[in-house]
Amino acid sequence: MLAVRDLHAWYGKSHILQGVDLDLAKGEVVSLLGRNGVGRSTTVKAIMGEIRPRGSILFKDRQIAGLPNHRIARLGLGYVPESRDIFSTLTVRQNLELGQKKKGREGQWRLADMLDRFPNLGRRADTAAGVLSGGEKQILTICRTLMGDPELIMIDEPTEGLAPLIVRQVAELISEIAQRGVAILLVEQKLSIALEISQRVYVMGHGRIVFEGSPAALRGDEKVRNDWLTV
Ligand SMILES: Nc1ncnc2c1ncn2[C@@H]1O[C@H](COP(=O)(O)OP(=O)(O)OP(=O)(O)O)[C@@H](O)[C@H]1O
Ligand SMILES: [Mg+2]
Repeated sequence: MLAVRDLHAWYGKSHILQGVDLDLAKGEVVSLLGRNGVGRSTTVKAIMGEIRPRGSILFKDRQIAGLPNHRIARLGLGYVPESRDIFSTLTVRQNLELGQKKKGREGQWRLADMLDRFPNLGRRADTAAGVLSGGEKQILTICRTLMGDPELIMIDEPTEGLAPLIVRQVAELISEIAQRGVAILLVEQKLSIALEISQRVYVMGHGRIVFEGSPAALRGDEKVRNDWLTV
């Protein structure tokens, strides 16, 4: 479904991505791990067309490298950025509606189900989203992206800075997304969650993939963990 080959990206003169190769099959859950600053967010931004990439990005056999961001989203690639950028002056409901591909038309994710499933969102459906807690904003951002009915969703550090209880809720939501057949590329710091829900993991170091394998293989590879993950 997604095949990234020799992906490069720059911020000004700094050459951040230096040849990233990455694959995701339909419905697969894959984590992209690595220490701070190695280029994980840059990878998803480059795939999403938020920064200019060089290299090949095939999504459903179609070359998307260089396409504008909104076109990529329309093809069925969802993106939940690190920044949890909700529209704080709009209501929770309006935020969710904004995620719909066509206004008023729902796909496999229904607005009413989301408000039911997350009572903290439901109670505030008609309140400005700015009052939500960090965790609620994170859930809202994921739900808004789901409203666009993506076939693949890339989620950047969804549990960062959240309390354990809401981390659980986010992890459960991610599992449910996977169960519904949506492929997931998860950027994570928390090894435990990534290993628990992923079928495959990539570890990134200095703008390249330095390890690819199953969660069990990563658990068993102390060298990779010491060299590229633990701080
Ligand atoms: N807008 C930017 N302008 C210039 N440099 C940037 C910018 N964003 C990121 N960088 C730099 O690019 C490198 C990769 O950043 P990236 O955000 O991809 O890291 P990351 O792996 O997601 O880690 P983390 O999220 O923990 O920061 C870092 O050295 C970072 O300082
Ligand atoms: Mg990041």
